[in-house]
Amino acid sequence: MSIERIPTHIEGLDENMQGGIPKEHIAIVAGASGAMKSSLTFSMLYNAVLYGETSGIYVTLEQGKDSLRQHMANMGMNIEDPRVRNRIAIIDLADLRVQLDEQGMGNRVDWMGQLISQLTNYRKSIGFEILVFDSLGAFFTLTKMENPRDEIFRLFEAVRRLGLTSFFICEMTGEDHKQFGEYGVEDYLSDTVMHLVMDRHDDEVRRKLGIVKMRHTDHLLGYRPFWWKKDEQRFSITDRA
Ligand SMILES: Nc1ncnc2c1ncn2[C@@H]1O[C@H](COP(=O)(O)OP(=O)(O)OP(=O)(O)O)[C@@H](O)[C@H]1O
Ligand SMILES: [Mg+2]
Repeated sequence: MSIERIPTHIEGLDENMQGGIPKEHIAIVAGASGAMKSSLTFSMLYNAVLYGETSGIYVTLEQGKDSLRQHMANMGMNIEDPRVRNRIAIIDLADLRVQLDEQGMGNRVDWMGQLISQLTNYRKSIGFEILVFDSLGAFFTLTKMENPRDEIFRLFEAVRRLGLTSFFICEMTGEDHKQFGEYGVEDYLSDTVMHLVMDRHDDEVRRKLGIVKMRHTDHLLGYRPFWWKKDEQRFSITDRA
């Protein structure tokens, strides 16, 4: 039985992981601040909607919708392309939070329940297939959750039930920043872990990408330098000419 996959469109990567990320995987994209987590993940969604018959939702909490759009436009992505406009919905949860706070409702909202029912509604009404969630850490600062581990489990399970292919962006935490995500369960609960690092040698910093795990897949191991090819609107891990 062959597995359907969503190509990442990262040059040099798909051919080293059997063509892409298996559909319906829960992936986490982890890395330090500025490691290009948002850019890389957005670019995967962007290219997926341009080259595949799919659509997606980008939930942003970390940075506002306008700032995100501005960043992607500055990277050379054509966010005004009708296919992009029609197939990628950017949802700004930070915005919603401000509105609810103004109404004194901020603390009374079951954020996780709201989020899951919103996603379910969108899934039914617009039938999107890919979810990007930027970021898990920012979501957990929205509200104090009694038991974040259980809440992450609840969210991942809901996303699984909806049959979405999802990308959850998270930070590295712990003493040496070796833990994926905030609660130490994110990587166990997910199917795919992509790790972006900023490798520093003296004054040189290089960004590198590693696939830590990808269930159902024979994939590249090790960390490869990656960079943005502005004229091709995609990232690359191939050797620079
Ligand atoms: N036009 C561009 N081309 C290539 N790289 C760019 C361009 N514009 C900005 N950058 C790089 O992108 C970085 C930010 O990328 P991005 O926002 O995706 O990172 P992030 O990991 O999501 O960061 P954060 O932790 O703040 O969310 C900047 O720090 C800068 O180095
Ligand atoms: Mg970001």
